[in-house]
Parts: sequence; structure tokens; C-alpha cells
Amino acid sequence: MMACIIWMLQVLPLIFCAWGESDFQWTQTDRGSFYYGTFPPTFMWGVGSSAYQTEGAWDTDGKGQSIWDVFTHKKGKVFMNHTADSSCDGYYKVKDDTELLKELKVSHYRLSISWPRIIPTGVRAENVNEKGIKYYNDLINGLLEKNITPVVTLYHWDLPHNLQEKFNGWQNISMVTYFNDYANLSFERFGDRVKHWITFNNPWSVAVEGFETGEHAPGLKLRGTGAYKVAHHLIKAHAKVWHTYNKHWRSKQKGMVGISLTTEWGEPVDISSQKDIEAAERFVQFNFGWFANPIYNGDYPQIMKEYIGQKSAQQGLGMSRLPTFSSQEKSYIKGTSDFLGVGHFTTRYITSRNFPSTQGPSYFTDRDLTELVDPKWPEPESKWLYSVPWGFRRLLNFVKTQYGNPLVFVTENGVSEKMHCAQLCDEWRIQYLKGYINEMLKAIKDGVNIQSYTAWSLMDKFEWDEGFSERFGLYYVEFKSKNKPRYPKASVQFYKRIISANGFPNPREVEKWHRISTETCSTTNQLLAADPLVSHMEMVTEIVVPTVCTLCILISAVLLMILLRRQS
Ligand code: NOJ
Repeated sequence: MMACIIWMLQVLPLIFCAWGESDFQWTQTDRGSFYYGTFPPTFMWGVGSSAYQTEGAWDTDGKGQSIWDVFTHKKGKVFMNHTADSSCDGYYKVKDDTELLKELKVSHYRLSISWPRIIPTGVRAENVNEKGIKYYNDLINGLLEKNITPVVTLYHWDLPHNLQEKFNGWQNISMVTYFNDYANLSFERFGDRVKHWITFNNPWSVAVEGFETGEHAPGLKLRGTGAYKVAHHLIKAHAKVWHTYNKHWRSKQKGMVGISLTTEWGEPVDISSQKDIEAAERFVQFNFGWFANPIYNGDYPQIMKEYIGQKSAQQGLGMSRLPTFSSQEKSYIKGTSDFLGVGHFTTRYITSRNFPSTQGPSYFTDRDLTELVDPKWPEPESKWLYSVPWGFRRLLNFVKTQYGNPLVFVTENGVSEKMHCAQLCDEWRIQYLKGYINEMLKAIKDGVNIQSYTAWSLMDKFEWDEGFSERFGLYYVEFKSKNKPRYPKASVQFYKRIISANGFPNPREVEKWHRISTETCSTTNQLLAADPLVSHMEMVTEIVVPTVCTLCILISAVLLMILLRRQS
């Protein structure tokens, strides 16, 4: 009897504790005020970018075309038909850009490899482009020389076009093998120095924007089916690459392989309404859970299975539009992430809404919900990116409760501005970073296991279907100038200080950073204001002077001829 009581006393608290942990508190409203404090001493601070968005050199040194090269070269796909053919010319600026990172004092830099740059057709057995390999070797070595850890994404959306053309890209299961071969090559060539690998960046976007709405390459609108099929293959490809690393490389290279999932947070409009709470949960599960649940819990979220299954039946289909994993596949996929990459930018309020199934299949109507924004939220620069810092803490706590408190790397978080003219005083970015990083600090206090933060992004760059109209950079890029100079915005000064202090020590200090950052930005603004003068001077020396000289020589020649004729 006594033994039984002791057992109950020991085990029951554990059961309650585990139970409490798996329950996300949807009705929690305590948002708290600004929290002064520091991050754990081993916390890593970084900044990120991606290959297609920054490298340029789209057809240089043997690089193959990617689906984004082809997509942007079609008229009407991207804002003002912009392309990233040259973008920031990052391919030619390894030295300059690693200097910027040093100036920022980051401990890591998140970059991506362009698959067609190192395997032009996407098929490893056909051809490996050594010049592409050299570029990434130079970049990785350049970072390590400066003590900056490279965090490398294998797929930031630029599939080799050849694979799209021949096999329909991610709609075809054969991509799993091609992707695995490409990953294997990357581990083989770079894995002695790269210890942090991300298989996919934001697979939600690949699936939904590439195959449901068609806003992104390859631009297909296979509503209600394409995205689910593509996601199924992406998840399998992720798992395969993790197993490859685990089996063949881990013991030698001692690195980590994870995935980066980017999601908006969904908050119920009315927390006293069960329907709104369920709708908000559906919003997050249909986005983040779609990928995280198979990897951490072994299958698609129950809610997705139910909703898509029901809608498919109502639409007269014999089976669900959401594919299924076999039990073997489930156990193969479960547990295939050494860390969970979390990307986050903004929040929506969510309320329940029934869409009639007669509307035809669609990922969006499958969710039966409506997204709203609070009219009190400050007007955003990009139409979708409202700054709602508390949503970040909510998301991070959701991650903790749903997936067994995994190791989290925050892989992208940042804000844009629409300005076309030079604007280095990015006060709103300072406020955004301050607010979001502070909520991340609160999440760590809540017990979320966050190891690193990556601000998005190092510099202004090509912003997908928005072209160059949205600037996410900490550094301003003057795209109009021939050599694409970079200038630090005020947020560089501010972020740098957060990094040095490893957090927010006290109000006086943080206030001082703010003042210093904005003071420096006004001086740099003057530098940039002088820039048109510099380009004017360049024009004078490069065009006007040679033209005038040529004209003078021509006129003198004509005059000389006239003179000679008269004399004869
Ligand atoms: C997430 C994408 O991964 C990144 O490439 C993009 O720049 C940001 N969203 C901002 O839209």
C-alpha cells in the first residue's frame, strides 16, 4: 500500500506535468511589458540571405538555369518585370560582404546554395560545375577566416529548371533522389567546414505559392491538389537527406541537419469562442503543423486530415486530396530534425468561417477560416507585414508544447520598407527588431529552447514576386549604381549593440543605443545624398569627356581638310 502511494506521488506529478506541457494555452492574454535581461551566454546571433535573391551572375561560369530564372524572364510575373539576373552581384563581392558581416559582429551567417550553380541540370551524374563549387568554397572559407559560422540552406526555392521541364519538378517523386544526390555532394564538398544544414527554407511557400496561387515559380495554379502533393514530396526529401547525413556523414563531420519552417501566427479573434480558438489552431496547423507534425509527431495534423478528407468527400472525390504516409514512411520521417528552424514575420487574427465545398477545391477554403488584421496595428510598409511582436512569443510557445520542446533556431525574422529613394534611418526596423527580439527573450524565460536568432536580411535584395520594391536589408543596396554599393542603415548600429550586450541590459543603455543609431544614420544619409553627385561625376568622366574629345578631333580634322583644299 505504502509503495503504491509513493509510486503515485512520484508518477502523478510527472503525468500532470507532461500533460500541461502538451497543452497550448489559447486563452492566455498576458503580454507583459518590455523585459530587460540577457540571453544565455551560448546564444548565437546572425543574419541571413539566399542565393537567388542576392548572387546575380545568373548564367555565369557554367551555372544552369533555375525555375526562378525562367519565371522572372517571363513578362508579367514579377513587379515591373524585375529579375535577379544581377541583383546585389553577391557572386562577385565575397570579400566586401564578409566585411559587412564582420562589422555587424554576427556569430553566424545564413546563406543558401544554388543547386543549378553546382549541378547545372540538377542531375549529379550528368555534370558537377567546379566553378560553382569554388564560389561556395571561397564564401565558406571567407566566413570561417572571420570566425563566422556558416549556416547553409540547401533549397531556398531555386530548383534547376531542367528538373521542372523534364519531370514537373516537385510534383514528381523522383525529386527526392535528385535532391538527395545534390545534398550528398554538398556534404561531401563543404561538410568538413559546414556544421549547420537546413534542407528546405519555407516549404509552405514552395508548395502554396508555387503550386496553388502560382505567385512564385514555377507559377502553377493546381488548386486544392498541387500544394499537397508537392509538400508530400518535400517532406520525404527532407527525411531522406537527414537519413543520408545521419548514416554517412554525421560520425565524421559532427554537424546537424534541420528544416526551416516559416509561418504567421494565428490568434483567435474572440478567445472566449471555442470556434475561433479551433479556427486559429487550424490556421497554424495548415501552415506550420503541415510540415512540423510529420517530422516531430509522425503524421499530418489530425485537423488537416479531417478537414481535407471531408471536403474531398463532399466534392465527390473517392479519396482525400491530402496524400497519406504508410506506417513505414511515418516512422522513417519521424524524428528527422536535429533542430527546428522557425521563421516568422507577422500575425493575423482568425475567425471561423464555412466555405461551401461547391466552390471547388482549394487549400485556402479547406481551412474554413477568415484572416483579419487589427485596424489599430500600425500601417505596414509591405502590405502583409504588420508588426505584432507578441505573436512571436505565442508561436514559440506553441512550438514548445506541440513538438516536445525541440531545439529551436530562429532562421528568419525581419521587416521591409517600400522606399525607392535612399532611406538609411530605418526607425521602424529598429522598433520591429527590438520588439520581436524581446518577445523571443520572454519565450526563453517561458522555457522555449531557442539557441540562435537570424535577422532577415543582411542587405536589400530581390524580393521574389515583389522584385526590388520591398527592402528587407540591414544594409541599403544602391541597385542603380554599377557596382551596387552597400550602406549601413541605422538598424545595423542597433542590432550590433544587441549582439554585443547579448540582449537588453537596462532602459538607459537601450535608449542610448537608439540615440547613437539614429545619429549615425543621419551622417551616413549625407554620404548617400552625395551619391548622385558621384554618379554624375562618373557620367562626366565616362561619357561626356570622351564624346567631347571625339567631337573635337572630328571637327579639327574637317577644318584641316577644308584648309588644305583652299590652299591647293
Ligand atoms: C521568407 C523567405 O524565405 C525570404 O526569402 C523572403 O525574403 C522573406 N520571407 C520576406 O518575404
